[in-house]
Parts: sequence; C-alpha cells; structure tokens
Amino acid sequence: MRVKKSDQITILGIETSCDETAASVVRGCADISKVAGEIISNVVLSQTEDHAPFGGVVPEIAARAHLQALDGIVRRAMDEAATGFSDLDAIAVTSGPGLAGGLIVGTMTARALTAVHDKPLYTINHLEGHALTARLTDGVAFPYLLLLVSGGHTQILLVRGVDDYERWATTIDDALGEAFDKTAKLLGLPYPGGPQVEKAALDGDSEAHAFPRPLAGRKTLDMSYSGLKTAVRKAALESDMSDQAIADICASFQAAVADVLDDRLGRALAKFEDRYGTPSALVVAGGVAANNTLRKRLESLSNERGWRWIAPPQALCTDNAAMIAWAALERFRLDGHQQEDAGIRPRWPLDPDAVIRLGAGKKGAKA
Ligand code: KG4
Ligand code: ZN
Repeated sequence: MRVKKSDQITILGIETSCDETAASVVRGCADISKVAGEIISNVVLSQTEDHAPFGGVVPEIAARAHLQALDGIVRRAMDEAATGFSDLDAIAVTSGPGLAGGLIVGTMTARALTAVHDKPLYTINHLEGHALTARLTDGVAFPYLLLLVSGGHTQILLVRGVDDYERWATTIDDALGEAFDKTAKLLGLPYPGGPQVEKAALDGDSEAHAFPRPLAGRKTLDMSYSGLKTAVRKAALESDMSDQAIADICASFQAAVADVLDDRLGRALAKFEDRYGTPSALVVAGGVAANNTLRKRLESLSNERGWRWIAPPQALCTDNAAMIAWAALERFRLDGHQQEDAGIRPRWPLDPDAVIRLGAGKKGAKA
C-alpha cells in the first residue's frame, strides 16, 4: 500500500510495557517533510498505586492490571478521538523492551484488533517511542541528541533517523530514576521516590553534603549512580533523620546528579559538534525529565552552547501510547506497508551494535 503525499495517516497506539496501560490516536501527514503530528486522544492509566505497597513494579500485578484495563482504555481512546476502526491506517503496539507479561497482553490485543479490522500491525520499540517524541511535539529534524532518564534506563542516544540510533552512553549500574527511588526509600519517603526527593530538596541545603560526582571528568560519556546511593546511605545513617536533615540530603543528592548530567551532556554536545560541525537539539525524555533542577541545568547548558533545548510536556516524557502511535506513523510514511510482526522482545536495544551493559536497571529492559 503506497501513501499519497497529501494523505493524513491515523494510527492507534497501545502501550503496556511496564506500569502504565495506555492507548492513543495520533494523526500526521504522509509527507515526510511535514514533521509534527497531532494527538487526537491520549489515555493513560497508571498502576502506581497497585505497586506502591511493594516499593517497585511487580510484574505479575502489572500483567493482570493491563489485562483488566486495556480493552476499556482502547475504547476510551477511540471514543475520545471520535474515530472508528475503519478510519485507522494501522495499529501500533509496544513489543519491547519491557516486562514480558505486559508485552504479551498488549501485542495479543493489538493482533486481535488488526485481524478483526483488517489493518496493518506495527510492533514498536518502546525506546524508539521516547526517541521520536520530540518530532511529534516540536518537529525536530534529524540528527539530534536524546537524554533518556527513567526508572529503567539512563542513556544518551544519537538519533540519526527512524531506526537509526547510536547509543553514546548508558549507566554502568543503577538507572537514574532507580537512584532517586532508592534515595527516597533510604530516607523513608514513599514510592515513587523521584517527585518526593525533588519536593524535599526545595527546603534543603545543596551544599550540606559533598556527595561524589561518579565518573565526572572522565572521558567516557557513561554514568554511574550506585556510589552516590552508598554515600546517601552513609549520610542517612549519620543523620538524625529530621525533616531538615532529609531535605539537606535530597538537595545535595540532586546537586550531585545535576553536576554529573551537566558534565556528561557537555561532553556529548562536544562530540556531536565534532562530528557534525554544528549544534543541534538536546531532547529529554523519561520520568526523571520531570525534575526541575535537572531540567534547568540542562536548559542552561543547551542555551550556553547554542543548542535548541526540547523538553516535551511531562505527559509525553513519561510512558504513553501517543509516542508508540507516532513511531509507527514515522515508519508507515517511510515504508507505506505492513511491517513484520516481530513478536515480543523483552530486551531490545535501539542500537544493536552497543555493548550490552548491566545498566538496564531494576525493571530490566524498561524505560
Ligand atoms: O518514565 P517513567 O515514568 O517510568 C519508567 O521508569 O519507565 O519514570 C519513572 C521514574 C521513577 O524512578 C521516578 O522516581 C522518576 O522517574 N521520577 C522523577 C521525578 N518524577 C518521576 N525523578 C526525579 N524527579 C522527579 N520529579
Ligand atoms: Zn519509558
């Protein structure tokens, strides 16, 4: 099936790779030169409350919750978009990386819908969804740099094109969101810890503790956060755990993270400029991208270096199905036909040539 240049493409996306059940309808132009798309509906049901008592995502609970919720979420996304299945050009689903149970629920549902409604199926890499979101929201041109920081991943990626990524850095131990969550846990703050740490840090002194800046100053672009966590544990044990003591630890932790990101990204921008001879755009994605201290720091870095700074709205930084529909739309207008159903791939790196690293984080291969 070839698409005409003037055609609009409409795609239903489904996302169930971790602890959000999501469906979305996205529309965009078939003409590749017109980048930004339109989100017609975007429904996300978070399972955070189901997992909170366990201090992290429990795969079996996640899979069951997806199974219960997905049909209704898809129906809502279609209703809110006032779209019928006959209006769709394709259906897209996350088929990896992520938790196998959730991926099975999503892909089985998508397969059933494509079979019943006779539509092409796109099986999409969740990380590609994050990587291409800035084109949906801001029409960014290739190539650009992406910092992906979530509970499951910490990566710096060169985004050269659809299906064309180079991983420049990853964490060699904990994911950054995981480091926030573990810090919160050590300080007795509830899960998920990132927003709690950020809130507590507002009243803290960022210079109260001289926490390490792991790997800062090294030539590598990789990151490491487990030493920082150990330093936080030591500080917590030595403190009286008063509100002020907790706030000081949170503020000092955040300052250390901001310094590390500033250092690593500064080097990444230089590497990009060496290769392409010009600045481009720095894009952030993932739950940690909600953190204002980190955002401000990276925004200043971008501005100082003449880079465009793009932080998509929070709802599109965290897991959602609009990014999955959009990634499929980008593929659809390139190939115009049904992609092969790749089946589920719980581990699925965007850059197949990148060295396998431990740093996929607690949630396995999830971002
Ligand atoms: O992308 P996301 O919603 O889910 C996945 O991990 O896939 O990211 C969740 C992570 C959690 O580790 C959470 O603590 C962290 O993002 N996070 C934050 C903030 N909001 C969420 N970390 C730091 N500051 C925040 N404001
Ligand atoms: Zn994600």
